[in-house]
Amino acid sequence: MENFEFYSPTQFVFGKDTENRAGELLKKYGAHKVLVVYGGKSAKESGLLDRVLDSLKKEGIEYFTLGGIKPNPRTDKVYEGIDIVRDNNIDFILPVGGGSVIDTAKAIAIGSNLEGDFWDLYTKKEDYEINPLPIGTVLTISAAGSEGSDSTVIQSLDGIKRGYHSDKVRPKFSIMNPELTETLPPYQTAAGIADMMAHILERYMTPSEDVLLTDELSEALLRTVLEEAPKVIENPNDYQARANIMWASTLAHNNLVGVGKVQDWTSHHLEHELSGLYDVTHGAGLAVIMPAVMEYIYKSDVPRFARLANKVFGIEMNEDNPEETAKQGIEAFRKFLKSIGMPLNFKDINAKVEDIPIMLESLGGDNIKEGAIQALDKDDIEAIYKLAANYSY
Ligand code: NZQ
Ligand code: ZN
Repeated sequence: MENFEFYSPTQFVFGKDTENRAGELLKKYGAHKVLVVYGGKSAKESGLLDRVLDSLKKEGIEYFTLGGIKPNPRTDKVYEGIDIVRDNNIDFILPVGGGSVIDTAKAIAIGSNLEGDFWDLYTKKEDYEINPLPIGTVLTISAAGSEGSDSTVIQSLDGIKRGYHSDKVRPKFSIMNPELTETLPPYQTAAGIADMMAHILERYMTPSEDVLLTDELSEALLRTVLEEAPKVIENPNDYQARANIMWASTLAHNNLVGVGKVQDWTSHHLEHELSGLYDVTHGAGLAVIMPAVMEYIYKSDVPRFARLANKVFGIEMNEDNPEETAKQGIEAFRKFLKSIGMPLNFKDINAKVEDIPIMLESLGGDNIKEGAIQALDKDDIEAIYKLAANYSY
C-alpha cells in the first residue's frame, strides 16, 4: 500500500425531503448571499428549484440564480457566473443538479476569487494558488460523484474538455435525496451507473500491491451497483434501490476506494475526447471505451482481472487458465452495460474512426503517457480507440 492522505470534509445529508434543509445548511456554513446554479429544465419543471429557493427565503438568505447549464458544461456559463458573483458580492455557491451543474459551480467558485483566467488552470497553462468560494450541493443524479469529489470538469466552446482537481473545491455539504433521481430518463440513469463503475474500476486497475481492503471495498461497491441497477431501470420509483445507487456513486468517487494506490484514469481521459468532439453523455462514452481499455491491458495483470471477473461478475475461476476467466469478466461487463441500454462501440454513439487522429493529437500526440498497470503511448491509445470503434456484438 502506498502512503496516502484521505480528505473528505463534506457533510452528506441523505434521504427524503432533505432538499428543504438547504437554507438551514447554508446558514450553518455562514452563507449570506448565494448564487443558485441549475441546469436546462429538470429542476425547474419538477418544482425542486422552488422548494430549494423557499428554504433559502425561510432563513432570510439573499440569492441570485444562474440557469441553463448544459451537460458537458461550457466555459461561457462559468464566466457568466463569475460576473454575477463579483457584481453582487456573493459569498456561497449552491448548485442544484448533476455533475455538470456542480462542476460549473466549482469553476465559478474558483474563478471568482482568482486574478487570472480559471480556464488556464484546467488546461495546465498556469498553476495559480486558488482560494475558492465555499459550495454546497443539491444532487439530482447519481453519476459523476462531484458532490463529494475534488474534481471539476469543464469544456471550452471549441470542444476541449479538461478537469481540475483540488481538495479546496470539495463541497461543505451535499444534500442527497434519492427520490429526486426518480424523474431521470432511463438513459441518464444508466449512463450514471456506467460512470460510477468507471470511477471504481479506474482505481481498481492498479499496479500497487497489498491493497486488499480497498480491493474488497471496490468489489462490494461494484456488486451493489450490479444488483441494484436492473431494479432502477425496471422500476424508476424503487426508492431503496435508488438510495443504494446514489450512495454508491458518492463512495465511488470521493476516493475512499482509491487511497493507497496508483490509479489509472486512461478511460476517463479517452472519453473526454469523445464528449468534446461529439457531445456524448460522459457515462455512455465510458461504456464504449472502458471495456476496450480492459481488453487491451488485462494480460499485464491476469490475476487482478481474473479476480474482478470472479468476485464481481460471478465467473467461476478457471485455475488452469485464469486468462480465460479474465476475458469472460470483460465480456460480462459489456453484457451488463448493454442490458441497461448503454452503447458499446463508435457506431452506437455516432463517433468516427477517421477522427481518431484528432483525439490522439488533443491527448498530447507523441507525448501521450497513460496507463498504470501497463504504460500506454500514442500507438497503444490508437489501438484502444480502434478496439472500441470496431467492437461488434
Ligand atoms: O439540465 P437538466 O434539465 O437538469 O437535465 C439533466 C441533463 O440533461 C438531466 N438531469 C439531471 N438530474 C435530473 C435530470 N433529468 C431529470 N431528473 C433529474 N433528477 O440529466 C442530464 C445530465 O446531467 P449531468 O449533470 O450532465 O450529469 P452527470 O452528473 O452525469 O454529469 C456529467 C458531467 O460530470 C463530469 C462529466 O465529464 C460530465 O461533464 N464529471 C465530473 C466529475 C467530477 N466533478 O468529479 C467526475 C466524472 O468523472 C465526470 O468526468
Ligand atoms: Zn466519470
